[in-house]
Amino acid sequence: MPDPHPSQLARLLAPDPPPRGLGLLRAVIRNPLEAIPRAVLERPLVRQTVLGRDRLFVTEPDLIQAVLLTHADAFGKSDAMRRALSPALGDAILTADGERWRRQRRAVAPIFRHDRLRAFLLPMLGAAARTRDRWLALPPGSAVEMGHEMMRTTFDIIVETMLSGHGAIDVARVERGITDYLASTGWAIALALARAPAWTPYPGRRRAARARDGLRAELLRLVEERRRLGSEREDLIALLLAARDPETGEAMDDRDIADNLLTFITAGHETTALALTWTFHLLDRHPAEEARLLEEIAAATGGGPARPEHLAALPRTRQAIHEALRLYPPAPIIARTALRPVRIGEEAVAPGTTVLIPVLATQRRADLWPEPDRFDPDRFHPDAVKARHRYAWIPFGAGPRICIGLTFATEEAVAILATLLPAVRARTAPGFDPGLAMRITLRPAQGMPMRLERR
Ligand code: HEM
Repeated sequence: MPDPHPSQLARLLAPDPPPRGLGLLRAVIRNPLEAIPRAVLERPLVRQTVLGRDRLFVTEPDLIQAVLLTHADAFGKSDAMRRALSPALGDAILTADGERWRRQRRAVAPIFRHDRLRAFLLPMLGAAARTRDRWLALPPGSAVEMGHEMMRTTFDIIVETMLSGHGAIDVARVERGITDYLASTGWAIALALARAPAWTPYPGRRRAARARDGLRAELLRLVEERRRLGSEREDLIALLLAARDPETGEAMDDRDIADNLLTFITAGHETTALALTWTFHLLDRHPAEEARLLEEIAAATGGGPARPEHLAALPRTRQAIHEALRLYPPAPIIARTALRPVRIGEEAVAPGTTVLIPVLATQRRADLWPEPDRFDPDRFHPDAVKARHRYAWIPFGAGPRICIGLTFATEEAVAILATLLPAVRARTAPGFDPGLAMRITLRPAQGMPMRLERR
């Protein structure tokens, strides 16, 4: 069965010809997806001029590979994204470029090694079980906001695995701070496009600054405390404290460490929570697929609670998550700025050009994905994956800047589904259309209110 709102994406994207000047900026502020020209669904490369500056949209897998891998060193993170994110995340792993980025990536890599990831499965299942128990304690038929439920669960997990547990951090305050900060990022992106000076005021700017200051203070406190008290723990804070510049031998300062911690907290929980929220939505709409996953989970767990050793036996569940990441990629646009002249396919790209990879549109191109709006986890059967261009599916990016948390996120999503699906059935009202909104990440514009029924 196709998604009930198949034309949702095409309807949302900018009409041909797309708005220009102020019209375009207004679209960016409202919902940056509305500024993507609809032509990207059909053409491999679309050039757009915004206030005299070129932007290039790329949706052809070969060309995406050229940007993210082959010529990766010709590109930096985009000015607009940096302008939206750096006030909060500083110049840490997600926003830095060049040698500074490389050093930070190397410093944190050990926490994503296979053996460390395996050890994280238990806390992941533990957090999922707490959500399940909270749900089971509600009166039957209770309504929840699924996005919020998933954020709570993945937030629990990121704090427990990366920062060695609660208590250390004011979870509610950090969560609120992140939402307050992200609320006005559309403005920051639009002002970067308009080349307005960095101090330009905009609605929500003060609130965002307050949120950022609160977040930074909370994390700086955590780093200072760890420096003072020390710890045997080998978590992300320990890795960042131990990191040394290979040339100067210098350690990272507290501010850089705090920026990296906030980057991991933000990049590591919101995206996965959204992937799960969209997966619940799709399973609600496709009960036959849901039944199939339930069967697989029951066969793997023997009907008992999911344990770490069960997760490898859930290939269909993993496929369903991959398909949800295709239809609703939590990071819907990957952006770069050319640092030097470079050729992408036939196209000469001048320094300063913004290159945008609209992941969401690429993953719904009809020539790459037959019946692109249809939810079909068979697309991720290993044979189908092998037959397809590697760069047709890029929810985690690709090349040297590929998401460092991709295995972490996938296993986390499997652990959460394996725990929650057998316990409750989550349903939205018939005909409910969540809509699509971009706030750096891809959120349901109307939220995802769902009723929970015990199975
Ligand atoms: C479904 C969940 C997730 C999605 C869809 C996702 C998506 C992405 C994407 C698209 C990028 C690359 C951005 C670019 O090239 O400009 C990225 C980078 C990153 N992600 Fe994720 N992510 C997810 C989960 C996670 C998790 C769980 C963590 C941490 C535990 C994490 C940490 C990071 C970091 C630190 C980077 C920057 C890497 C670098 O530049 O070297 N992400 N993510």
